Amino acid sequence: MKTFDRNYYRQTENPYKTKLAVITKIHQETSETKTYTFKFAGEKHPFDFSPGQFNMISLLGIGEGPFSISSAPTQKDSFDHTIRVVGDLTKAIGELEVGHAVGIRGPYGVGWPIDSARGKDLLIIAGGVGLAPLRGLINLIVEQHHNFGKVEVMYGSRKPDNLIFTDEYDTWRQTPGMRLFLTVDEVPKGVKWPYGEGIVTNLFDQSEIDPANALAFVCGPEIMMRFVARSLIIRGFSEESIFVSLERRMECGMAKCGRCMIGPKYVCTDGPVFSYPEVKALPHNLLAASF
Ligand SMILES: Cc1cc2nc3c(=O)[nH]c(=O)nc-3n(C[C@H](O)[C@H](O)[C@H](O)COP(=O)(O)OP(=O)(O)OC[C@H]3O[C@@H](n4cnc5c(N)ncnc54)[C@H](O)[C@@H]3O)c2cc1C
Ligand code: FES
Repeated sequence: MKTFDRNYYRQTENPYKTKLAVITKIHQETSETKTYTFKFAGEKHPFDFSPGQFNMISLLGIGEGPFSISSAPTQKDSFDHTIRVVGDLTKAIGELEVGHAVGIRGPYGVGWPIDSARGKDLLIIAGGVGLAPLRGLINLIVEQHHNFGKVEVMYGSRKPDNLIFTDEYDTWRQTPGMRLFLTVDEVPKGVKWPYGEGIVTNLFDQSEIDPANALAFVCGPEIMMRFVARSLIIRGFSEESIFVSLERRMECGMAKCGRCMIGPKYVCTDGPVFSYPEVKALPHNLLAASF
């Protein structure tokens, strides 16, 4: 008779085990959002991930949650997360200082299909903190721009002071082949704003990208992604050329708890980046709602 091996759990690496990562830098992006640079404590080898993937970040006694890695994978000895305060965990992270440590598990999930984008034009569309999972990709393209065609970044936010990564816009604008377009829902009285006003799809008329040889990567609130996908298809993008990143409540991050499931798909391991036809086939999500 087969008996339970008491050493089993000692021999098998616990997949929930976290690695300690120390905050080496904090950059205040907006009143509610900061970018944290982390280094693994005592780790020598590089942290390999793909833009669009996420880590589970935990704080002892508070909780754990999924957060996209917001740096480029070429930044080898450290990695960034850009975190907006919305509840208990993010508030507690927001109170950390340089030198404090968090627990990290990851990287998890499927990122942006970068290999399919090489040699093509790329339309990158983001809303609010949805620019975080795309920043690593944009900064990778800045370094490797000769591998890509035209790249247009279209970013929408509520107000001018809600924009994140503003320090990097000049570098993006100066990158050969890359253009940046900004828009906000509302410009407060007295604020100078030389860019667009209104929803992000209003920027599409300025695009010089030929949908026949382009991919579109989209991240933001689901309702925004739905309208963006619809406008892209009207402009001639095929459904297969559109990719979106979905946000769902997560607990394990590795297809064990079922918390993130939409129909048969695990957002944590099948996504968070999905092609538009994959998402359209799923039940109960705003993107799948009929046009
Ligand atoms: C793959 C993935 C990547 C993410 N990347 C980032 C990131 O780069 N930066 C960032 O700031 N946040 C990101 N998030 C969201 C982040 O995980 C949540 O904001 C965080 O876990 C909230 O924890 P909390 O305890 O502070 O708030 P809670 O008290 O848990 O929630 C506060 C409010 O936020 C809403 N909320 C919480 N989690 C989610 C979620 N996963 N999806 C939709 N609504 C949610 C709740 O409904 C509630 O209204 C990501 C989520 C996913 C699934
Ligand atoms: S978060 Fe547990 S199955 Fe996806």
